[in-house]
Amino acid sequence: MATLSFSILLRPHSSLSSLPPFPPFFSFSPSRPKSSLKSRIFTISNSSPISTSPPLPSFRSKPPSQTTVLVAGATGYIGKFVVRELTSRGFNVISIARRRSGTRGLNGADQTLKLLSGSTVCFSEVTDLAALNLALDDLSLSSIDVVVCCLASRSGGIKDSWAIDYQASINTLLAGRRLGASHFVLLSAICVQKPLLEFQRAKLKFEAELQRMAMESPGFTYSIVRPTAFFKSLGGQVETVKDGKPYVMFGDGKLCACKPISEEDLASFIADCVMDADKACKILPIGGPGQALTPLEQGELLFRLLGKEPNFLKVPIGVMDFVIGVLEFLSKLFPALEDAAEYGKIGRYYAAESMLVLDPETGDYSSEKTPSYGKDTLEEFFERVIREGMAGQELGEQTIF
Ligand SMILES: NC(=O)c1ccc[n+]([C@@H]2O[C@H](COP(=O)([O-])OP(=O)(O)OC[C@H]3O[C@@H](n4cnc5c(N)ncnc54)[C@H](OP(=O)(O)O)[C@@H]3O)[C@@H](O)[C@H]2O)c1
Repeated sequence: MATLSFSILLRPHSSLSSLPPFPPFFSFSPSRPKSSLKSRIFTISNSSPISTSPPLPSFRSKPPSQTTVLVAGATGYIGKFVVRELTSRGFNVISIARRRSGTRGLNGADQTLKLLSGSTVCFSEVTDLAALNLALDDLSLSSIDVVVCCLASRSGGIKDSWAIDYQASINTLLAGRRLGASHFVLLSAICVQKPLLEFQRAKLKFEAELQRMAMESPGFTYSIVRPTAFFKSLGGQVETVKDGKPYVMFGDGKLCACKPISEEDLASFIADCVMDADKACKILPIGGPGQALTPLEQGELLFRLLGKEPNFLKVPIGVMDFVIGVLEFLSKLFPALEDAAEYGKIGRYYAAESMLVLDPETGDYSSEKTPSYGKDTLEEFFERVIREGMAGQELGEQTIF
Protein backbone atom coordinates (compact mmCIF):
# COMPACT_ATOMS: atom_id res chain seq x y z
CA MET A 1 0.00 0.00 0.00
CA ALA A 2 2.70 2.47 0.94
CA THR A 3 5.07 3.60 -1.77
CA LEU A 4 8.42 2.13 -0.84
CA SER A 5 11.70 2.85 -2.54
CA PHE A 6 14.43 0.44 -1.54
CA SER A 7 16.84 3.31 -0.90
CA ILE A 8 14.91 4.19 2.25
CA LEU A 9 15.71 0.85 3.77
CA LEU A 10 19.24 1.93 4.53
CA ARG A 11 18.58 5.55 5.40
CA PRO A 12 19.82 6.33 8.91
CA HIS A 13 17.31 7.37 11.53
CA SER A 14 17.33 11.15 11.85
CA SER A 15 17.40 12.69 15.29
CA LEU A 16 16.05 15.80 17.00
CA SER A 17 18.98 16.13 19.34
CA SER A 18 19.75 19.86 19.05
CA LEU A 19 16.74 21.73 20.30
CA PRO A 20 16.77 25.53 20.59
CA PRO A 21 16.27 27.23 23.95
CA PHE A 22 12.78 26.96 25.33
CA PRO A 23 10.58 29.90 24.28
CA PRO A 24 10.02 32.44 27.05
CA PHE A 25 6.23 32.37 26.86
CA PHE A 26 6.03 28.74 28.03
CA SER A 27 8.03 27.52 30.95
CA PHE A 28 8.85 24.15 32.42
CA SER A 29 9.66 25.68 35.82
CA PRO A 30 8.86 22.93 38.28
CA SER A 31 5.74 23.77 40.21
CA ARG A 32 4.42 21.97 43.23
CA PRO A 33 1.71 19.48 42.21
CA LYS A 34 -1.62 20.48 43.60
CA SER A 35 -2.35 18.43 46.70
CA SER A 36 -5.83 17.45 45.50
CA LEU A 37 -4.26 16.00 42.36
CA LYS A 38 -1.32 14.44 44.14
CA SER A 39 -3.63 12.29 46.22
CA ARG A 40 -5.01 10.76 43.02
CA ILE A 41 -1.66 9.60 41.61
CA PHE A 42 -1.66 5.90 40.67
CA THR A 43 0.24 3.54 38.45
CA ILE A 44 -0.92 1.40 35.57
CA SER A 45 -0.28 -1.77 37.56
CA ASN A 46 -2.67 -0.67 40.30
CA SER A 47 -5.50 -3.18 40.37
CA SER A 48 -7.60 -1.36 42.96
CA PRO A 49 -10.24 1.22 41.98
CA ILE A 50 -8.63 4.54 41.11
CA SER A 51 -10.58 7.01 43.12
CA THR A 52 -12.32 6.63 46.46
CA SER A 53 -14.41 9.79 45.98
CA PRO A 54 -18.05 9.36 44.88
CA PRO A 55 -18.49 9.10 41.08
CA LEU A 56 -19.02 12.45 39.37
CA PRO A 57 -21.82 12.92 36.82
CA SER A 58 -20.65 11.88 33.35
CA PHE A 59 -18.87 14.55 31.30
CA ARG A 60 -21.26 13.55 28.50
CA SER A 61 -23.99 15.57 30.21
CA LYS A 62 -21.93 18.78 29.87
CA PRO A 63 -21.89 21.09 26.82
CA PRO A 64 -18.62 21.07 24.78
CA SER A 65 -17.66 24.52 26.10
CA GLN A 66 -17.40 23.01 29.58
CA THR A 67 -15.66 19.83 28.45
CA THR A 68 -11.85 19.74 28.49
CA VAL A 69 -10.15 17.43 26.00
CA LEU A 70 -6.42 16.74 26.15
CA VAL A 71 -4.94 15.86 22.76
CA ALA A 72 -1.57 14.06 22.58
CA GLY A 73 0.06 13.73 19.17
CA ALA A 74 -1.65 17.04 18.35
CA THR A 75 1.01 17.98 15.78
CA GLY A 76 0.65 14.81 13.70
CA TYR A 77 -1.02 14.33 10.32
CA ILE A 78 -4.28 13.30 12.00
CA GLY A 79 -3.76 14.99 15.38
CA LYS A 80 -3.81 18.53 13.97
CA PHE A 81 -7.14 17.85 12.24
CA VAL A 82 -8.51 16.39 15.48
CA VAL A 83 -7.56 19.59 17.30
CA ARG A 84 -9.20 21.67 14.55
CA GLU A 85 -12.38 19.57 14.63
CA LEU A 86 -12.69 19.60 18.43
CA THR A 87 -12.12 23.35 18.68
CA SER A 88 -14.67 23.96 15.91
CA ARG A 89 -17.17 21.89 17.91
CA GLY A 90 -16.56 24.21 20.87
CA PHE A 91 -14.53 21.94 23.17
CA ASN A 92 -11.91 23.34 25.49
CA VAL A 93 -8.85 21.69 23.91
CA ILE A 94 -5.40 21.30 25.45
CA SER A 95 -2.81 20.25 22.84
CA ILE A 96 0.43 18.64 23.96
CA ALA A 97 3.35 19.42 21.68
CA ARG A 98 7.11 19.26 21.61
CA ARG A 99 9.15 22.45 21.40
CA ARG A 100 10.14 21.32 17.89
CA SER A 101 7.37 19.37 16.24
CA GLY A 102 6.51 17.86 12.87
CA THR A 103 8.54 15.45 10.76
CA ARG A 104 12.21 15.80 11.70
CA GLY A 105 11.30 18.67 14.05
CA LEU A 106 10.69 21.12 11.22
CA ASN A 107 8.27 23.35 13.17
CA GLY A 108 9.37 25.74 15.88
CA ALA A 109 7.14 26.86 18.74
CA ASP A 110 5.58 29.77 16.82
CA GLN A 111 4.55 27.54 13.93
CA THR A 112 3.17 24.98 16.37
CA LEU A 113 1.10 27.62 18.16
CA LYS A 114 -0.28 28.75 14.80
CA LEU A 115 -0.98 25.18 13.70
CA LEU A 116 -2.89 24.46 16.91
CA SER A 117 -4.64 27.81 17.22
CA GLY A 118 -7.93 27.66 19.05
CA SER A 119 -6.44 25.24 21.58
CA THR A 120 -4.21 25.83 24.60
CA VAL A 121 -0.78 24.49 23.73
CA CYS A 122 1.10 22.71 26.49
CA PHE A 123 4.75 22.30 25.46
CA SER A 124 6.02 19.16 27.12
CA GLU A 125 7.50 15.69 26.58
CA VAL A 126 5.07 12.78 26.50
CA THR A 127 8.05 10.45 26.95
CA ASP A 128 8.62 11.85 30.46
CA LEU A 129 5.63 11.37 32.76
CA ALA A 130 6.96 13.62 35.53
CA ALA A 131 7.60 16.49 33.09
CA LEU A 132 4.18 15.99 31.52
CA ASN A 133 2.45 16.10 34.92
CA LEU A 134 4.31 19.28 35.85
CA ALA A 135 3.54 20.99 32.55
CA LEU A 136 -0.16 20.15 32.92
CA ASP A 137 -0.14 21.34 36.54
CA ASP A 138 1.26 24.66 35.32
CA LEU A 139 -1.95 25.17 33.33
CA SER A 140 -3.97 25.09 36.60
CA LEU A 141 -6.75 23.08 35.00
CA SER A 142 -9.66 22.17 37.24
CA SER A 143 -9.84 18.79 35.50
CA ILE A 144 -9.57 16.94 32.20
CA ASP A 145 -12.62 15.09 30.92
CA VAL A 146 -11.31 13.19 27.91
CA VAL A 147 -7.91 12.30 26.46
CA VAL A 148 -7.47 11.80 22.72
CA CYS A 149 -4.20 10.09 21.83
CA CYS A 150 -2.92 10.42 18.25
CA LEU A 151 0.68 9.63 19.17
CA ALA A 152 2.72 7.42 16.89
CA SER A 153 6.36 6.70 16.24
CA ARG A 154 7.43 8.89 13.34
CA SER A 155 9.83 6.22 12.10
CA GLY A 156 8.24 2.86 12.92
CA GLY A 157 11.64 1.79 14.28
CA ILE A 158 11.66 -0.88 16.97
CA LYS A 159 12.75 1.14 20.03
CA ASP A 160 10.85 4.24 18.96
CA SER A 161 7.62 2.26 18.53
CA TRP A 162 7.83 0.96 22.08
CA ALA A 163 8.82 4.42 23.37
CA ILE A 164 5.88 6.19 21.69
CA ASP A 165 3.09 3.82 20.60
CA TYR A 166 3.33 2.08 23.97
CA GLN A 167 5.14 4.00 26.71
CA ALA A 168 4.27 7.59 25.75
CA SER A 169 0.65 6.50 25.29
CA ILE A 170 0.74 5.00 28.81
CA ASN A 171 2.18 8.28 30.12
CA THR A 172 -0.61 10.21 28.45
CA LEU A 173 -3.20 7.89 29.94
CA LEU A 174 -1.71 8.25 33.43
CA ALA A 175 -1.38 12.04 33.15
CA GLY A 176 -4.98 12.32 31.96
CA ARG A 177 -6.33 9.98 34.64
CA ARG A 178 -4.43 11.91 37.31
CA LEU A 179 -6.43 14.99 36.30
CA GLY A 180 -9.71 13.10 36.32
CA ALA A 181 -10.13 12.00 32.67
CA SER A 182 -12.88 9.40 32.44
CA HIS A 183 -12.70 8.63 28.72
CA PHE A 184 -9.75 7.87 26.44
CA VAL A 185 -9.94 7.90 22.65
CA LEU A 186 -7.05 6.08 21.01
CA LEU A 187 -6.06 6.46 17.37
CA SER A 188 -4.75 2.99 16.59
CA ALA A 189 -4.56 1.21 13.22
CA ILE A 190 -6.58 -1.51 11.50
CA CYS A 191 -3.39 -3.44 10.77
CA VAL A 192 -3.01 -4.46 14.42
CA GLN A 193 -5.54 -7.21 13.66
CA LYS A 194 -2.65 -9.16 12.12
CA PRO A 195 0.38 -8.08 14.13
CA LEU A 196 3.64 -8.95 12.39
CA LEU A 197 5.48 -5.69 13.07
CA GLU A 198 6.94 -4.18 16.21
CA PHE A 199 4.85 -1.00 16.12
CA GLN A 200 1.71 -3.15 15.86
CA ARG A 201 2.75 -5.18 18.92
CA ALA A 202 3.43 -1.96 20.83
CA LYS A 203 0.00 -0.57 19.89
CA LEU A 204 -1.76 -3.82 20.81
CA LYS A 205 -0.08 -3.92 24.21
CA PHE A 206 -1.27 -0.40 24.88
CA GLU A 207 -4.80 -1.26 23.69
CA ALA A 208 -4.79 -4.18 26.17
CA GLU A 209 -3.64 -1.94 29.05
CA LEU A 210 -6.35 0.57 28.21
CA GLN A 211 -9.03 -2.11 28.15
CA ARG A 212 -7.76 -3.53 31.43
CA MET A 213 -7.93 -0.11 33.05
CA ALA A 214 -11.54 0.28 31.90
CA MET A 215 -12.42 -3.15 33.34
CA GLU A 216 -10.87 -2.27 36.69
CA SER A 217 -12.03 1.36 36.96
CA PRO A 218 -15.76 1.99 37.24
CA GLY A 219 -16.79 5.00 35.19
CA PHE A 220 -13.69 4.95 32.95
CA THR A 221 -14.29 4.20 29.27
CA TYR A 222 -12.32 4.09 26.03
CA SER A 223 -12.84 4.14 22.26
CA ILE A 224 -10.17 2.45 20.17
CA VAL A 225 -10.30 3.79 16.60
CA ARG A 226 -8.64 1.55 14.02
CA PRO A 227 -8.64 3.35 10.65
CA THR A 228 -7.72 1.92 7.28
CA ALA A 229 -5.18 3.68 5.03
CA PHE A 230 -4.72 7.44 5.09
CA PHE A 231 -4.67 9.44 1.85
CA LYS A 232 -1.01 10.41 2.39
CA SER A 233 -0.04 6.74 2.14
CA LEU A 234 -1.63 6.44 -1.31
CA GLY A 235 -0.65 9.72 -2.96
CA GLY A 236 3.08 9.07 -3.33
CA GLN A 237 2.93 8.21 -7.03
CA VAL A 238 0.61 10.96 -8.26
CA GLU A 239 3.41 13.36 -9.14
CA THR A 240 5.72 10.73 -10.68
CA VAL A 241 2.92 9.34 -12.86
CA LYS A 242 1.98 12.90 -13.84
CA ASP A 243 5.62 13.30 -14.95
CA GLY A 244 5.26 10.31 -17.26
CA LYS A 245 6.71 7.54 -15.06
CA PRO A 246 4.94 4.20 -14.65
CA TYR A 247 2.75 3.35 -11.68
CA VAL A 248 4.69 0.84 -9.57
CA MET A 249 2.80 -1.98 -7.88
CA PHE A 250 3.63 -5.36 -6.38
CA GLY A 251 2.52 -8.58 -8.08
CA ASP A 252 -0.59 -8.08 -10.20
CA GLY A 253 -1.65 -5.06 -8.14
CA LYS A 254 -4.39 -7.05 -6.47
CA LEU A 255 -2.49 -8.39 -3.47
CA CYS A 256 -4.29 -6.01 -1.12
CA ALA A 257 -7.03 -3.38 -0.90
CA CYS A 258 -8.11 -0.54 1.38
CA LYS A 259 -10.91 1.97 1.94
CA PRO A 260 -8.88 5.15 2.36
CA ILE A 261 -10.10 7.86 4.71
CA SER A 262 -9.23 11.56 4.69
CA GLU A 263 -7.76 13.45 7.63
CA GLU A 264 -10.91 15.59 7.98
CA ASP A 265 -13.27 12.60 7.94
CA LEU A 266 -11.18 10.61 10.42
CA ALA A 267 -10.87 13.65 12.70
CA SER A 268 -14.65 14.02 12.61
CA PHE A 269 -15.10 10.33 13.53
CA ILE A 270 -12.60 10.68 16.39
CA ALA A 271 -14.43 13.80 17.63
CA ASP A 272 -17.69 11.80 17.58
CA CYS A 273 -15.96 9.25 19.85
CA VAL A 274 -15.36 11.94 22.46
CA MET A 275 -19.03 12.31 23.40
CA ASP A 276 -20.90 9.44 21.78
CA ALA A 277 -21.76 6.86 24.47
CA ASP A 278 -22.50 4.31 21.70
CA LYS A 279 -18.80 4.36 20.78
CA ALA A 280 -17.57 3.78 24.35
CA CYS A 281 -15.70 0.58 25.28
CA LYS A 282 -15.51 -0.46 21.65
CA ILE A 283 -12.88 -1.22 19.06
CA LEU A 284 -13.95 0.74 16.00
CA PRO A 285 -12.49 -0.17 12.60
CA ILE A 286 -13.21 2.65 10.16
CA GLY A 287 -12.69 3.38 6.48
CA GLY A 288 -13.67 6.12 4.08
CA PRO A 289 -16.64 6.16 1.69
CA GLY A 290 -17.05 3.78 -1.25
CA GLN A 291 -15.72 0.37 -2.13
CA ALA A 292 -12.28 -0.96 -1.28
CA LEU A 293 -9.63 -0.24 -3.93
CA THR A 294 -6.63 -2.37 -4.89
CA PRO A 295 -3.35 -0.72 -5.99
CA LEU A 296 -4.29 -1.69 -9.58
CA GLU A 297 -7.60 0.17 -9.26
CA GLN A 298 -5.88 3.16 -7.65
CA GLY A 299 -3.42 3.25 -10.57
CA GLU A 300 -6.23 2.98 -13.14
CA LEU A 301 -8.05 5.83 -11.41
CA LEU A 302 -4.94 7.98 -11.54
CA PHE A 303 -4.32 7.35 -15.27
CA ARG A 304 -7.96 8.14 -16.00
CA LEU A 305 -7.77 11.44 -14.10
CA LEU A 306 -4.55 12.35 -15.90
CA GLY A 307 -5.98 11.34 -19.28
CA LYS A 308 -3.03 9.01 -19.87
CA GLU A 309 -2.74 5.44 -21.12
CA PRO A 310 -2.22 3.05 -18.17
CA ASN A 311 1.45 2.18 -17.74
CA PHE A 312 2.19 -0.19 -14.86
CA LEU A 313 5.48 -1.50 -13.55
CA LYS A 314 4.79 -4.81 -11.79
CA VAL A 315 7.41 -5.73 -9.19
CA PRO A 316 7.45 -9.32 -7.91
CA ILE A 317 6.85 -9.35 -4.15
CA GLY A 318 9.74 -11.81 -3.89
CA VAL A 319 12.12 -8.89 -4.53
CA MET A 320 11.08 -7.41 -1.19
CA ASP A 321 11.44 -10.76 0.55
CA PHE A 322 14.98 -11.02 -0.80
CA VAL A 323 15.93 -7.52 0.42
CA ILE A 324 14.38 -8.16 3.85
CA GLY A 325 16.19 -11.51 4.08
CA VAL A 326 19.54 -9.83 3.37
CA LEU A 327 18.84 -7.04 5.88
CA GLU A 328 17.74 -9.51 8.57
CA PHE A 329 20.91 -11.53 8.07
CA LEU A 330 23.07 -8.38 8.23
CA SER A 331 21.23 -7.09 11.29
CA LYS A 332 22.36 -10.17 13.19
CA LEU A 333 25.95 -9.14 12.50
CA PHE A 334 25.34 -5.39 12.74
CA PRO A 335 22.49 -4.66 15.21
CA ALA A 336 22.36 -1.06 13.92
CA LEU A 337 20.62 -2.49 10.83
CA GLU A 338 17.71 -3.88 12.88
CA ASP A 339 15.52 -0.88 12.09
CA ALA A 340 16.37 -1.05 8.38
CA ALA A 341 15.12 -4.65 8.35
CA GLU A 342 12.00 -3.53 10.23
CA TYR A 343 11.32 -0.77 7.65
CA GLY A 344 11.60 -3.39 4.93
CA LYS A 345 9.06 -5.55 6.75
CA ILE A 346 6.71 -2.58 7.12
CA GLY A 347 6.90 -1.92 3.37
CA ARG A 348 6.33 -5.61 2.65
CA TYR A 349 3.33 -5.67 5.00
CA TYR A 350 1.61 -2.74 3.29
CA ALA A 351 2.39 -4.17 -0.14
CA ALA A 352 0.54 -7.41 0.55
CA GLU A 353 -1.88 -6.99 3.48
CA SER A 354 -5.25 -5.31 3.06
CA MET A 355 -6.27 -2.47 5.34
CA LEU A 356 -9.73 -3.94 5.82
CA VAL A 357 -11.52 -5.83 8.59
CA LEU A 358 -10.19 -9.36 8.86
CA ASP A 359 -13.27 -11.60 8.98
CA PRO A 360 -12.66 -14.02 11.87
CA GLU A 361 -15.00 -16.59 10.29
CA THR A 362 -13.33 -16.79 6.89
CA GLY A 363 -9.86 -15.47 7.74
CA ASP A 364 -10.19 -13.17 4.71
CA TYR A 365 -10.20 -9.39 4.54
CA SER A 366 -13.71 -8.04 4.00
CA SER A 367 -14.63 -4.78 2.32
CA GLU A 368 -18.28 -5.24 3.37
CA LYS A 369 -17.38 -5.68 7.04
CA THR A 370 -15.22 -2.53 7.04
CA PRO A 371 -17.47 0.37 8.08
CA SER A 372 -17.42 3.52 5.93
CA TYR A 373 -17.53 7.05 7.25
CA GLY A 374 -17.29 10.52 5.75
CA LYS A 375 -17.50 12.03 2.29
CA ASP A 376 -13.98 12.58 0.93
CA THR A 377 -13.00 10.18 -1.86
CA LEU A 378 -9.60 9.10 -3.13
CA GLU A 379 -10.61 10.43 -6.56
CA GLU A 380 -11.07 13.94 -5.13
CA PHE A 381 -7.78 13.60 -3.28
CA PHE A 382 -5.88 12.56 -6.45
CA GLU A 383 -7.47 15.49 -8.34
CA ARG A 384 -6.25 17.86 -5.63
CA VAL A 385 -2.71 16.44 -5.65
CA ILE A 386 -2.61 16.66 -9.47
CA ARG A 387 -3.56 20.36 -9.15
CA GLU A 388 -1.69 21.38 -6.02
CA GLY A 389 0.95 18.74 -5.25
CA MET A 390 1.53 16.73 -2.07
CA ALA A 391 2.13 19.63 0.34
CA GLY A 392 0.79 18.65 3.76
CA GLN A 393 0.73 14.98 2.79
CA GLU A 394 4.37 14.22 3.52
CA LEU A 395 5.16 10.77 4.87
CA GLY A 396 7.04 10.21 8.12
CA GLU A 397 10.77 10.03 8.70
CA GLN A 398 11.35 6.83 6.73
CA THR A 399 8.80 7.77 4.02
CA ILE A 400 6.96 4.50 4.63
CA PHE A 401 3.79 5.85 6.35
N1 LIG B 1 -0.49 6.02 7.49
C1 LIG B 1 -1.59 5.30 7.41
O1 LIG B 1 -2.09 4.99 6.31
C2 LIG B 1 -2.28 4.84 8.68
C3 LIG B 1 -3.42 4.09 8.55
C4 LIG B 1 -4.10 3.71 9.71
C5 LIG B 1 -3.63 4.07 10.96
N2 LIG B 1 -2.50 4.78 11.06
C6 LIG B 1 -2.07 5.14 12.43
O2 LIG B 1 -2.46 6.47 12.74
C7 LIG B 1 -1.65 6.97 13.80
C8 LIG B 1 -1.27 8.42 13.59
O3 LIG B 1 -0.66 8.57 12.36
P1 LIG B 1 -0.16 10.00 11.86
O4 LIG B 1 0.19 9.79 10.43
O5 LIG B 1 -1.12 11.07 12.24
O6 LIG B 1 1.17 10.17 12.76
P2 LIG B 1 2.26 11.30 12.63
O7 LIG B 1 1.89 12.34 11.62
O8 LIG B 1 3.56 10.60 12.47
O9 LIG B 1 2.19 12.00 14.06
C9 LIG B 1 2.74 11.41 15.19
C10 LIG B 1 2.49 12.27 16.41
O10 LIG B 1 3.18 11.65 17.52
C11 LIG B 1 4.12 12.60 18.04
N3 LIG B 1 5.39 11.96 18.41
C12 LIG B 1 6.09 11.06 17.69
N4 LIG B 1 7.26 10.78 18.33
C13 LIG B 1 7.28 11.56 19.45
C14 LIG B 1 8.22 11.74 20.50
N5 LIG B 1 9.39 11.07 20.54
N6 LIG B 1 7.93 12.60 21.48
C15 LIG B 1 6.77 13.29 21.45
N7 LIG B 1 5.83 13.16 20.49
C16 LIG B 1 6.10 12.32 19.50
C17 LIG B 1 4.42 13.56 16.91
O11 LIG B 1 4.91 14.75 17.48
P3 LIG B 1 5.99 15.66 16.69
O12 LIG B 1 5.19 16.48 15.70
O13 LIG B 1 6.61 16.47 17.77
O14 LIG B 1 6.96 14.73 16.02
C18 LIG B 1 3.06 13.69 16.26
O15 LIG B 1 2.27 14.59 16.98
C19 LIG B 1 -0.49 6.00 13.88
O16 LIG B 1 -0.70 5.22 15.03
C20 LIG B 1 -0.59 5.15 12.64
O17 LIG B 1 -0.10 3.84 12.85
C21 LIG B 1 -1.81 5.21 9.96
